Amino acid sequence: MVRAVTTFFSPIRLLSVTAEMFPFVKTGGLGDVAGSLPVALAPYGVMVTTLLPGYPAVMAAARERRLVAHVDSLLGHAVTLWSATVAGLDLLIVDAPELFDRPGNPYMCPDGQDWPDNGIRFAVLSRMAADIAQGRIDRYRPDIVQAHDWQAGLTAAYLHHDSIALGTPRTPVVQTIHNLAFQGRFPATCLAQFGLPPEAFSIEGCECYGAISFLKAGLYHADRITTVSPSYAQEIQTPEGGMGLDGLLRHRSDRLEGILNGINTDIWNPASDPAVHFPYGVGDMTGRAFNKRDLQSEFGLWADPNAFVIGIVSRLTAQKGIDLLADVMARLLVGNTQIIVVGEGDRDIERSLVALQRQFPGRFACRIGYSEVLGHRVPAAVDALLIPSRFEPCGLTQLGALRYGAIPIASRVGGLADTIVDANPAALARGGATGFLFAPVDGETLVAGVNRARTLYRRNRQAWRQLQYNGAAYDVSWNDKAGHYVTLFAEVLGVDLSAPAVSNVISLSGGADMGMRLREGRRRTIARRPPRLSRPLAAP
Ligand code: ADP
Ligand code: GLC
Repeated sequence: MVRAVTTFFSPIRLLSVTAEMFPFVKTGGLGDVAGSLPVALAPYGVMVTTLLPGYPAVMAAARERRLVAHVDSLLGHAVTLWSATVAGLDLLIVDAPELFDRPGNPYMCPDGQDWPDNGIRFAVLSRMAADIAQGRIDRYRPDIVQAHDWQAGLTAAYLHHDSIALGTPRTPVVQTIHNLAFQGRFPATCLAQFGLPPEAFSIEGCECYGAISFLKAGLYHADRITTVSPSYAQEIQTPEGGMGLDGLLRHRSDRLEGILNGINTDIWNPASDPAVHFPYGVGDMTGRAFNKRDLQSEFGLWADPNAFVIGIVSRLTAQKGIDLLADVMARLLVGNTQIIVVGEGDRDIERSLVALQRQFPGRFACRIGYSEVLGHRVPAAVDALLIPSRFEPCGLTQLGALRYGAIPIASRVGGLADTIVDANPAALARGGATGFLFAPVDGETLVAGVNRARTLYRRNRQAWRQLQYNGAAYDVSWNDKAGHYVTLFAEVLGVDLSAPAVSNVISLSGGADMGMRLREGRRRTIARRPPRLSRPLAAP
C-alpha cells in the first residue's frame, strides 16, 4: 500500500557495511561507531541500513527477522539475507553459517589466531554489499555506501568491475579507515575465489606488494576516503604512519578527509549510566569519590581516598603502548599512585600485566578480559585515564573519560591530539585545558606525563577541577561530526544543502523503499538545511 506524505527533505539512503556493530558484536571502537553513527545521522535525513555478518550474537538479537533473499552460491557459499530492526537499528544480515556461525571473536579463533578463511568471509560480506548497492534485492537500493575498514574494502572494487562489465552506473562508495594497521592481505592466488577478474590484480586495483589487499582496493576505488580524525588523516600520508599505503593516500589526498568520532551521550552519561554505582553530574562530581572507593575494593587496591588512581581500558596490542608499562611501573606508582588495567589481547602483554599485579599488590591490579560494564565504571571512578598509544586513529576512551571527569593522560598522536587540550602553562592560565599529552611515545615521556598530572592533582585541586569541568563541557557527541558526514554524502551525491526550503512528496511502502532516488542523476535539494549543518534538526 503506497501512501503519500509531505516532508521537507529527501532522505539519503546509506548502506553501512561493517564487520562489527554495538550492541550486537564489538571488539573495539569500530563496533561503537557502526552502532552509534546511524542514530546520529537519522535526524539529518540520512537513513542508515547496516549490512553485517550473521554471527551467533547477531542472529540471536534478530530473532524477529524477515527473509529478503536466498542465494545458493555467493562466491561458493549459501547465503540467506535477512532484514531486521533491532534496538532501533535497521539491519541486513548476511547469514552464511559456514562462514559466520562460530563462537567468540569475529576475526579470531579461540587460540587468538586469525580465522584461516577470513578472506572469503569478508569477500562474501563485500560481494553482498555490492549486489545490494546495484539494486539486486527487492525494495531497497541505497544511494550511497559507507564501507568500514578492510572487511568491507572489496565493495568498491566489485562495484567498479561490475559497472565496467555491465555498463551500468556505479553507486558511490565512501571508504572509511578506522585503523590502517589492518589491511586484509591475502595471497594473489585467492583472486578467483574472491570473484575478482584477472585485471583487478593490478597496481590500479587490489594488488599491494604482491598480495591482494582488501583495504587498498577500497582506497583505490572509493569515491571518497574518510578516516576518524584530522590528525590521523595527515599521519597516514607519511611514510611513518602510512603502513605502506601512504603513497596511494597522498595520491588521493584531495579525496581524503578526517572526521572525528563521537559517542552516544545518552549512553555515556554519568548521571544515568546503569554501570555507575554512584551517579553524578558535571556540577557536582562527589559521586566519583564513592565510585573510586568501590573500584579500589573491587580490584583489591588499598582503600585510600587520597591515592591518585589511574585507569586503563584498552585492547592490549602494540598499538596501545601498554607494553611500555612493565619497565616503568615502579616509577609510575610513586607518590601514592594506583593503577588499574582492564583489557585483553596480546598474550605476552596479558602475562606481563598479571606478573605486575603480583609484584605490586594493592597498588597495581588488572582484569584480563572484556567487560562493557567496567569500560564505563572505570572512567566514572578513576582520577585519570592513561592512553599511551603509539598511534590512535581517533580513540573513544578519551572521549568517555572527558565526559566522566577522568583526566586523560595520552600520547600526542592522531585523534588523541585532536580531542585533548594539553595542560601547559598557557592553557592552564587560559582555563582551557582538558588533559595531558606527551610525545614521543616511550617510557620516559609516559612517566613525565603521569608526573605532570599527579603534580597538578596534588598541588592545585582547583585547577584539576577546572580540567574536569572543561572536559565535561567539551562536545564529545556526534552532533557536529554527523553534520560533517552529511555534507560529505551530499557532495558525493550532488545534493545541494544550501538550497531554500521546498516540500517534496515521497512514497512510503512499508518503510523499506522510502526516499527519492538520487541516483537518477538529477540534482536534488535537501530543504530546511543550513549550508553547514551543526545540529540535528530534531531529537533522535
Ligand atoms: P580501538 O577501537 O582501537 O580498540 P577505541 O578507543 O576507539 O580503540 O575504542 C575502544 C572501545 O572499546 C571503547 O569503547 C573502550 O571502552 C572499549 N574497550 C576496549 N577494551 C575493552 C575491555 N577490555 N573491556 C571493556 N571495554 C573495552
Ligand atoms: C579503530 C581505532 C580507534 C578508533 C576506532 C573507531 O579501532 O584504533 O582509534 O577510535 O577504530 O573509529
